Amino acid sequence: MTPTFIYGTAWKKDATTELVQTAVKAGFNAIDTANQPKHYSEWLVGEALEALAAEGITRDSLFLQTKFTPLNGQDDRVPYDPQADLKTQVLQSFERSLKQLKTDRVDSYLLHGPYSYPGLGDEDWEVWSAIEELYRLGRTGMIGISNVNYLQLRALIERAKIKPMAVQNRCYANRGWDREVREICREHGIMYQGFSLLTANVPVLHHPPVAAMAKKLGVDVTQVIFRYAMQVGMVPLTGTTNEKHMKEDLGVYRIMLTEDEVSFIESIAG
Ligand SMILES: NC(=O)c1ccc[n+]([C@@H]2O[C@H](COP(=O)([O-])OP(=O)(O)OC[C@H]3O[C@@H](n4cnc5c(N)ncnc54)[C@H](OP(=O)(O)O)[C@@H]3O)[C@@H](O)[C@H]2O)c1
Repeated sequence: MTPTFIYGTAWKKDATTELVQTAVKAGFNAIDTANQPKHYSEWLVGEALEALAAEGITRDSLFLQTKFTPLNGQDDRVPYDPQADLKTQVLQSFERSLKQLKTDRVDSYLLHGPYSYPGLGDEDWEVWSAIEELYRLGRTGMIGISNVNYLQLRALIERAKIKPMAVQNRCYANRGWDREVREICREHGIMYQGFSLLTANVPVLHHPPVAAMAKKLGVDVTQVIFRYAMQVGMVPLTGTTNEKHMKEDLGVYRIMLTEDEVSFIESIAG
């Protein structure tokens, strides 16, 4: 199943279990998490999946994505041996993810962020090759990378044995909504997942022409942003903690922006 809208589980802490269940029952069929206790409670996503399965919503009906988070993104709860070589770190983190998520495979596995900037370095290649191995073994349906710039993405596409199939990036209007990276994704058939579409773009939410589009469609301006994202080929993420917002977010499937409206939002610089 290819997702078109993903429910994100960052920063939910103890509410994670209940919120994941609420989101799935509201209609979300894709869940994003990470093996990064600092920001995500992956084991509580697992509890939610177990509770949902007991109610007949099986693991197979859901798209499940998690991430390998390098040491510099972890707090003292590192979910792998920090002294081990990078390949071992990835494999340990992956096995821990499966255990926490109470599953035997994930649908997508991402490198949470490159080690080097602005290009890729030796550590990135070592970790990517471990991620490729997980894909080869059929333990994840897709592999990808997050927080990546266009130079890094181009390098990965050119040199990797198995090319990334998903990219997950923060999407700022005032940086062209990450157009360069999106363009590469489009060219290579890579799923582009956009996050912080609301929080990174507060001025857009207050922009009068965007508010007018929402009024015309009889929806909230947040839906206009998510709909814009879908119409330009993104798979948006939402991390709302509010059931009403979840339902509003899913209302994007019932609206359509005109080409002019999409081009207008695409051209807004924050
Ligand atoms: N790869 C990475 O490094 C990375 C980094 C950050 C995030 N992510 C992923 O992306 C997910 C989403 O994060 P995000 O940064 O996009 O933001 P977010 O956590 O979804 O925050 C959205 C904010 O907008 C508010 N909001 C108001 N109306 C809303 C509506 N109708 N729908 C949705 N939100 C509404 C939410 O408040 P309410 O709760 O009151 O609705 C919330 O405070 C995360 O959970 C995580 O899975 C990944």
